[in-house]
Amino acid sequence: MSSDALVPVRFAGDAVEYLDQRLLPHEVRMVRAVTVDEIEAAIATLAVRGAPCIGIFGAYGIALLRRTVAGDAAFAAAAARVRAARPTAVNLAWAVDRVLAAEEMLAEAEAIHREQIAIDRRIGRAAIELFPKRAAVLTHCNTGPLATGGEGTALGAIVAAARAGRRIHAYVDETRPLLQGSRLTVFELARAGVEATLLVDGAAAIAMQRKGIDLAIVGADRIARNGDTANKIGTYGLAIAAAHHGIPFYVAAPRSTFDFSIATGAEIPIEERGSEEVACFAGVRVAEEGTRVYNPAFDVTPGHLITAFVTEYGIIRSPYAETVPDLQYRPRIAEIA
Ligand code: MRU
Repeated sequence: MSSDALVPVRFAGDAVEYLDQRLLPHEVRMVRAVTVDEIEAAIATLAVRGAPCIGIFGAYGIALLRRTVAGDAAFAAAAARVRAARPTAVNLAWAVDRVLAAEEMLAEAEAIHREQIAIDRRIGRAAIELFPKRAAVLTHCNTGPLATGGEGTALGAIVAAARAGRRIHAYVDETRPLLQGSRLTVFELARAGVEATLLVDGAAAIAMQRKGIDLAIVGADRIARNGDTANKIGTYGLAIAAAHHGIPFYVAAPRSTFDFSIATGAEIPIEERGSEEVACFAGVRVAEEGTRVYNPAFDVTPGHLITAFVTEYGIIRSPYAETVPDLQYRPRIAEIA
């Protein structure tokens, strides 16, 4: 297993540095974001991505802008832009609000980052019991260190199970249209020494039918009080296919991804992205010019299709309308780690 961990974001005093995930796996390049334009663009273009990771990056970004943007009104406007750079993952707004409410903004951003590392470890440990001795596990999108700044959520769980002695084979959806699965998850699993097979998203159902998939585990961008879960587009279809085949479907996520202010997934804003992401492939147009495109970046899986959530507080099972709201009263990980 590789020990040289990739650092997706870090505070560098006069900049927030990030690993440009758009270039992976071919190039590992750290880039500096200094201005609000650069911070906002890094999030919006998915150079920095993954719900917890954009929260950490946004938190550092706010701490930096507090030092560099003169005047309270200008700072508030800059902070609002960072907070709104992507709408679905609640971690971004949650982290920005937490830093804005703090007296020492940089210390708070560092605490958010440190806590995520501890949270990921706890999620990994809690998930091990969900994996049989030999497990074929299906996952979607990218939920590893690049997506969280720690060891990852769903991918962290897969790696933790492998390290605990389970014989794991991961089936990785490529994750159209931006290929987080083929570019990032396959890359991270290889570095962690976990066997993996890549498949197109449309092959997930036949993999469940013919490849003996034992479980599916994915991450989340926002979870409502009733367990409805927004995650990368394609997750909802996977959950339906898993239910059809009687395969357990797990969601691994930190408490910061739960939005206790909303009752159901109907209230989750779904980001729609540009048509070129679908109409072009690797920079080459494949659909005729002028083709109308529907490109939601996320979908919402109803809570009743989710077997359980894996959180830093352990496994959460239904009835979610009762068990999920309870999470908000648990002590912060920093206080119990
Ligand atoms: O658009 P992305 O790549 O930011 O989407 C990421 C996902 O959907 C992840 O599954 C989610 O953020 C969880 S990351 C631990």
